[in-house]
Amino acid sequence: MWKGTICQSALVVPGPPYPFGVSLPGMDSLWRRWWRPHTLGQVTEATRDQDGQDQWWKSAVVYQIYPRSFADSNGDGIGDLPGITSRLDHLSALGVDVIWLSPVYPSPQDDNGYDISDYQGIDPTFGTLADFDELLDQVHARGMKLVMDLVVNHTSDEHPWFVESRSSSDNPKRDWYWWRGPREGMAAGDPGAEPTNWGSFFSGPTWELDEATGQYYLHLFSRKQPDLNWENPQVREAVYAMMRWWLDRGVDGFRMDVINMISKDTALPDGHQGPGAHHGDGSPHFLCGPRIHEFLQEMHAAVFAGRDGALLTVGEMPGVTVDEARLFTDPARREVDMVFQFEHVGLDQGDSKWDVRPLDLRDLKASLGRWQAGLAETGWNSLYWNNHDQPRIVSRFGDDGEHRVASATMLGTVLHLHRGTPYVYQGEELGMTNAPFASIEDFRDIESVNHYRAWVDPGHQSAEEVLAALRVMSRDNARTPMQWDDSPHAGFTTGEPWIAVNPNHATVNAAAAAADEGSVFHHYRRLIELRHKEPAVAHGDFHMLLPHDERVYAFTRRLEDVELLVLGNFSGEEAPADVPDAAGWAGSELLLGNLSDVPDAGPIVLRPWEARVYRRTS
Ligand code: NOJ
Repeated sequence: MWKGTICQSALVVPGPPYPFGVSLPGMDSLWRRWWRPHTLGQVTEATRDQDGQDQWWKSAVVYQIYPRSFADSNGDGIGDLPGITSRLDHLSALGVDVIWLSPVYPSPQDDNGYDISDYQGIDPTFGTLADFDELLDQVHARGMKLVMDLVVNHTSDEHPWFVESRSSSDNPKRDWYWWRGPREGMAAGDPGAEPTNWGSFFSGPTWELDEATGQYYLHLFSRKQPDLNWENPQVREAVYAMMRWWLDRGVDGFRMDVINMISKDTALPDGHQGPGAHHGDGSPHFLCGPRIHEFLQEMHAAVFAGRDGALLTVGEMPGVTVDEARLFTDPARREVDMVFQFEHVGLDQGDSKWDVRPLDLRDLKASLGRWQAGLAETGWNSLYWNNHDQPRIVSRFGDDGEHRVASATMLGTVLHLHRGTPYVYQGEELGMTNAPFASIEDFRDIESVNHYRAWVDPGHQSAEEVLAALRVMSRDNARTPMQWDDSPHAGFTTGEPWIAVNPNHATVNAAAAAADEGSVFHHYRRLIELRHKEPAVAHGDFHMLLPHDERVYAFTRRLEDVELLVLGNFSGEEAPADVPDAAGWAGSELLLGNLSDVPDAGPIVLRPWEARVYRRTS
């Protein structure tokens, strides 16, 4: 029976589906929870919290690079570090402050680098440590920062720690991972003999039998991603030493992969298994477990405390609630600066991420509004539409056809004007769209391919039914190559790309966008500039308006005597914005809009996918 902390008990609050794809038929419950500061790096009174800590990241914008798909310098069809270095001027022109690099460490690439076999190296596919140092120097030379992906819930099964651990039951590293014998009364290998009934995020059970020793090891993700046992202090110290090594090398922080999974209930109880489900839901036993706050505070003390320099930590936390997030991001607690939560990217899903539903804008306002209110006084939000695990936002909540540019710029405006640190995922600044995948052979992602096999092979769904969901929700939508120009492989590679380039690169590409002041790129550039120049964007309070309006997203931001009004039309029709004091706002300064010829008087009626930001002082 679970005796949990606030973190665990909060999981009973109905949440969004889990973002990854456990997707076996009948499985239900898991899814139910689920400037430059123009003085970047300078500490000013405005960026310090009550304890005197520098909070420079409150006015910063982060750009995520998925190295495999960004830029290929050597023609092997896979992006690499020299490729990234060669494209840094694109990011300088956009004006971002921080780059988050998805994993570039040595890896068998079972999960595109989120399965790491050496934490202190660079995969030859991506280059060398010398290439990395050159990239870091070039990033710093442009006044930007570089944050690494930290994947320490699990390693690759090819990491020397795991190779040792599996070598014998009495190996000194045996306890660095979760090893257990078969279920009582059953023999290893018997169907259902796994130590718990938990289902893996990438289909199948979370346990893999090691024939040689007759024990199973835990893997919440693929069988090539064994979970580290954070109960073992040697594991924690080895991780902290590795983190210090990267900081000493000059990196500026970490994005921490599924970091709220590192503390598990050591009793490893079975999870609830719904009728017809093949596996149980283990998440109450490993999300925000009993020691999660202790581990993050220990990490902070061992790795970050006392370091000079403006660093950034962001924890990816599936299933995290507002109350938990406030604890994780309360600066006085010294855990992380901000977390990635998943509520808003689960609102268009039913029982699983593959069960796609239309978005009701009122749900989006209720969700994001609750996060804004919940972290208003203590803690901090991260703001994102996209990352390497999410389909493209313009195809998801916007219109990637006739209104692609208007809807992409409206979505960017609404997100970036919230209180929090915005994250831009590569290609989002171009309005890149989902890809026209024709068949399962076009997909590369382990989650997508395993889901297809788990449903189509046994005949639970037809190939077309599964493909229809994959086309909308697959992570591969985010992973098609960056579209630099209109040349055959979009300027991404001179070779054969590892995943097909979206054919719309003929028109949707960085070169065309740079030459067009009306492009998504220039709008994102203006949004980032606005955050840097207008303190109310970073530091103002947040007040949601029109919560029941089905088309118009509206809110105000206030800092002292400055007030901003942000409006976005989430529809392809004209929509009046019946905001309080509309007449007063109509006469105020239009700071930013995404469509030209905005009338400067009269009632505010937004055109399809229009966004406006007004400013007034009182
Ligand atoms: C979260 C990462 O964002 C995702 O891409 C990865 O598959 C899982 N964690 C496992 O590392």
